[in-house]
Amino acid sequence: MSSTTDKVDAKDAYDEQNMFENGRINLQIGAPAYAILQQCASIMRVATEHRMAREEKEGFLFQYGSRNGDVAYRKELASFLTRHYRYQVDSSSLVVTAGATQGLYMLASLLFSRGDVVFVEDPTYFIGFQILKTDLGLKTISVPMDEEGIDVDLLDRLLEEHKKLSTVSVTEERPFWTMLYLIPTFHNPTGRCLSERRCRQLVQVARKHNILVVCDDVYNTLCYERDPQGNFVTPPPALISFDQETDPGFHGNVASNGSFSKILSPGLRLGWIQAPKKIRSLIMNSSYCDSGGSFNNYTSGIIASALQLGLVEQHLGKIQDIYADNMNAVHKIITEEWPTGVSCHLPKGGFFIWVEFPQGFSCAELKETCIRDHNVSFYVGSICSPQGLFGNCLRVCFALYDMETLTDAVRKIGQSARLMMEAHTT
Ligand SMILES: Cc1ncc(COP(=O)(O)O)c(C=O)c1O
Repeated sequence: MSSTTDKVDAKDAYDEQNMFENGRINLQIGAPAYAILQQCASIMRVATEHRMAREEKEGFLFQYGSRNGDVAYRKELASFLTRHYRYQVDSSSLVVTAGATQGLYMLASLLFSRGDVVFVEDPTYFIGFQILKTDLGLKTISVPMDEEGIDVDLLDRLLEEHKKLSTVSVTEERPFWTMLYLIPTFHNPTGRCLSERRCRQLVQVARKHNILVVCDDVYNTLCYERDPQGNFVTPPPALISFDQETDPGFHGNVASNGSFSKILSPGLRLGWIQAPKKIRSLIMNSSYCDSGGSFNNYTSGIIASALQLGLVEQHLGKIQDIYADNMNAVHKIITEEWPTGVSCHLPKGGFFIWVEFPQGFSCAELKETCIRDHNVSFYVGSICSPQGLFGNCLRVCFALYDMETLTDAVRKIGQSARLMMEAHTT
């Protein structure tokens, strides 16, 4: 009989093997490139040296830490976000997390119970959706999106219908009867951004129905749009910036779940939640927080130094350059070399390009062919859909590989797609 340890080891081996099996070029993985991650070593070395000079006298970083996180971390993070988000972020509105995955799990599990109804975009980040549905046993209702992001009119109608059926009693400990999970900026998988018009409308709808909107904001600062001088412009304003305390109808309906995983390193397991006071209090008064203290005290202190020394900003500039080039190259190949009838929107940031084939085309079949003939893989759109839609779409991540490997793999997918489409028409 295998022990638990054997099972864990087998799973680890499977993950590694699955990611790069037989030298497979796996464009389905949404992770930073190794060449970029190697640069994190010197950032962490310098930042650690900087912070340890203080810790030799204090030792605070080796303690459980305060529940909302290291003061320097929240201060430096607030000024970083203020620069990038185009509005003032107050350090008191931030709580440290161990990444956006932990943030989502924590918020949803603290606020809702098995069987409660929650709303998700379709398509969406499929693991975020699985956390809600499978891990937490919540009933997920999917809401379609278009070029401007989630269909807020339809959401409004669905909320109206489901509110009537809801048995959740709203209390101080459970201030919302439901939540919407969405990725408003540089959406995974489509790369789209919720338009400003929809942002305003969504905040009104959230207030009207008393729901919490949990924004998965892990890609926001990865913007590749440039001004006429060639400098990167600031990304579209985060949804939370449309829910201001000074607004007459303010009720604190939006939480922003951010992370250093995509802009620095997922191995750090470090993120933040920016949220209204009632949500922060719920987190900080939980036994979960009471027992463990800050969710990642040590690392947050080191990253406070990295932020203070400008190392994160410098790194971000470099990776924006790399990812922008990768994204543009992939888009160019798809639009110029892939068969006609394939459409592909050029995102302004993030990690992904979403490609749409004519209805009836099977991206699952294309994927099988690409693995068999080229050892190249990608995500079939239906995995990103709670309803199993988008079988004619695929998602390519342009972050993990160098330009040559990436473009070669994308060309090969295009060649296989052409052969498949020709075979279907003859
Ligand atoms: C939309 C989205 N949210 C969250 C995550 C994971 O974030 P973290 O590493 O901060 O837990 C990912 C990673 O692929 C993602 O694409």
